Amino acid sequence: MKFLIVNGPNINVLHLRNKSIYGTLSLEEINQKIISSFPEDEFEFFQSNHEGSIIDKLNASEGVYDGIIINPAAYSHTSYAIKDALEIITSPKIEAHLSNIFSRDEFRKVSVTAGAVDAVICGLKEFSYIAAVYSLKKIITDKK
Ligand code: DQA
Repeated sequence: MKFLIVNGPNINVLHLRNKSIYGTLSLEEINQKIISSFPEDEFEFFQSNHEGSIIDKLNASEGVYDGIIINPAAYSHTSYAIKDALEIITSPKIEAHLSNIFSRDEFRKVSVTAGAVDAVICGLKEFSYIAAVYSLKKIITDKK
């Protein structure tokens, strides 16, 4: 199966962020962990700090991937435009967060993008992505 994994702003500098909240791995290390956890699958990784670039990538993704995982990062709490872009995509989609967004600041407790995906996984640090891939594979297989 072919998956797209999209990460939003500041995930590129995870290694500089609070390790007790986000874990100890860099984005590159997380991506490598995903690849080695699912050797039979194909992954494309996309990270951007720019809302429009994330939307452009999502717009170009309809029909291209079996499933999409997105961590919109802080855009989760603000971006109706990313939500609209996610709504266009018909393949299974999961929103993943490294941290437990419900145990942090008030503004993080609402994800405006979450309503446009099949499921949200948060709080497992890098394993949120692994659990998301595992779950997407199950959703896709069950549909066949
Ligand atoms: C995050 C949670 C967001 O609230 C935050 O702005 C991030 C990362 C997470 O993965 O836990 O940048 O999406």
